Amino acid sequence: MVDQPLIKAANLVCEHHDGTVALDDVSFEVMPGRSLAVVGPNGAGKSSLLTCLMGFLKYSGEITINGQVLTSTSVPQIRRVMTMVFQDPDDQLFMPTLAEDVAFGPNNLGLSSDQVESRVSKVLDRLNLSELRDRPPHHLSFGEKRRAALATALAMNPSILLLDEPTANLDPATRRELAEYLAGLDATLLIATHDLEFVKALCPRVILLSKGRLITEVDTSCLLQNTALLRNHRLA
Ligand SMILES: Nc1ncnc2c1ncn2[C@@H]1O[C@H](COP(=O)(O)OP(=O)(O)OP(=O)(O)O)[C@@H](O)[C@H]1O
Ligand SMILES: [Mg+2]
Repeated sequence: MVDQPLIKAANLVCEHHDGTVALDDVSFEVMPGRSLAVVGPNGAGKSSLLTCLMGFLKYSGEITINGQVLTSTSVPQIRRVMTMVFQDPDDQLFMPTLAEDVAFGPNNLGLSSDQVESRVSKVLDRLNLSELRDRPPHHLSFGEKRRAALATALAMNPSILLLDEPTANLDPATRRELAEYLAGLDATLLIATHDLEFVKALCPRVILLSKGRLITEVDTSCLLQNTALLRNHRLA
């Protein structure tokens, strides 16, 4: 059987609530196991693309996730297979304790309390966050909050994981551990980032956005060798 794309965007035009058009005629596909990076200068539309795929923004064109067209009706089902870690962890963490934040998604899946607790402790353990489980998320350091936000997304066992600037504010060792951890996950990644080393470690393909338009889709190795393209789009 031929694999279907996990993510398919066709002629995507995406608008913020105030009418700002953040993406214009963007088309690409992500095949299973072929993690894709989204790069481009500040304001290019990277975060807008990820939030649009999650069903938070108005769009025209077509978005299909795991074979399902994204509509207001299909959003809840789509968010069971695809989760997102926001650029700002404060957008993601809102419960009184970290453990409750991580349990929030699994609780909504209707799992038993034992099943939820088992997922929560496993994810916290894998991300070295167990000691912080009873702390209020807003009292954590920024780097800890980033890992906490990742934990809330991973607790859903997603097959597609969208990450917005995952390495921002991480110390070098945490960044390296994060890359190793993500490489070992059984999930296809879509990563919006300025961190080209991180892209090289995790994504064989890249799309380059600028001013809301898709400039090119290339192999990561080709992008990294193309100094002129990198400079023209403020990536070097
Ligand atoms: N909530 C919003 N309301 C209106 N316009 C917005 C909103 N968020 C972003 N925009 C606009 O949409 C465009 C794309 O912004 P976006 O945040 O997607 O860029 P980005 O590539 O993620 O940038 P960065 O590298 O700075 O994170 C910009 O012109 C921005 O001003
Ligand atoms: Mg952004």
